[in-house]
Amino acid sequence: MSNYLIGVSGGIACYKTLTLCRLLMKAGHDVRVVMTENACKFVTPLAFETITRNRAYVGEFDAGLDPATIEHIDLAGWADEFVIAPATANTIAKIAHGIADNLLTSTILPYKKRLLIAPAMNVDMYANPITQENLKKVEAMGHMIIDPGTGEMACDAEGKGRMAEPEDIFQILTAEMPLKGVKVLVTAGPTAEPIDPVRYITNRSSGKMGAAIARKASEMGAEVKLIAGPVSINLNGLNVTSVTTAEEMLNAVRENLADTDMLIMAAAVADYKPAQYSEKKIKKNNEEMNVPLTRNPDILKTISAEKLEKQVFVGFAAESNDVKENALAKLQSKKLDLIVANDISRGDIGFESDENEVSLYFADGTNLESGKMHKSEVAKLIINRAFDIFRGK
Ligand code: C5P
Repeated sequence: MSNYLIGVSGGIACYKTLTLCRLLMKAGHDVRVVMTENACKFVTPLAFETITRNRAYVGEFDAGLDPATIEHIDLAGWADEFVIAPATANTIAKIAHGIADNLLTSTILPYKKRLLIAPAMNVDMYANPITQENLKKVEAMGHMIIDPGTGEMACDAEGKGRMAEPEDIFQILTAEMPLKGVKVLVTAGPTAEPIDPVRYITNRSSGKMGAAIARKASEMGAEVKLIAGPVSINLNGLNVTSVTTAEEMLNAVRENLADTDMLIMAAAVADYKPAQYSEKKIKKNNEEMNVPLTRNPDILKTISAEKLEKQVFVGFAAESNDVKENALAKLQSKKLDLIVANDISRGDIGFESDENEVSLYFADGTNLESGKMHKSEVAKLIINRAFDIFRGK
């Protein structure tokens, strides 16, 4: 049983939200509704109260509310899932810009998790580039847009903009989420170690594997944080902390470590950095030039001392030779539960490719070959195996 907070903004699709509440109630969930004033013109709070057996919250400053609670903060903290259905163009624009001018939008601002947003509006309002830009912004914040349907509208227009059917929203909300409540920290991409203001040394890594792991874990219901080095791939919809150097990545991992169940270090961290950073651009006056390098901290080794019994650490090993031996040595020295090894001498997989083929070596001495598959499938395999270990601890 979960706590579902349903945010209702003012569109004719409000009547469908009654059905969504009914479906959630029948499935045994606790449902509360927060409505905008405009929503109340389409469907009364009483209708929602009768279905949810809870009061429907509307006014920010209603007299008679419990003085012991601060409604918008308490509601945001109470909700396991927060669904905005229908989400009007206006409410979506407010979410995109952090406006909090009614109880619904004031409740959205302190809510820390992913919102599920079901847009509902006229076809031209939906197609308007400003609405589309706002939807992209909201997605980039990590929220999920439940695509509107296409068809006849209340205004007699035809096209995209009808709110998704309540049965479909219900299905998305209650789909099997095996990783619900599990906190996953993923690192992705290379790190870059500056030599001077324009030059740096780095590793080859697109960040695709780490991003695929973060996305898959999120789809499976986990609370995911991604720490990404400089990458040019699309990270929309993910909760991302961007870093540049290995040291910054180490600090970001450390900051989040205590609040992590599974750490998946897919980043290709630079092993060395220039011993000295030159504030001024180095001039090309000499035929030869040497850049002295110094060792970067090994993130996994450094944090292994702080590893909690229940935590699962997954590392990666990109190897050009003796793949198995090297991977097993790293599994041990970095105190990992699982290491994912790939053979970088093969040009058809890994690096910028969308496909990968990996060997999984486990701390209990067993191993598994993935076969060649799409990176999202590899991601699923890694997450499932890491989760098996987590459950067994
Ligand atoms: O030792 P090697 O770099 O091959 O190990 C790879 C694994 O260790 C990866 O999971 C990588 O993210 C992690 N690593 C690290 N700190 C480093 C270098 C690599 O945590 N400085």
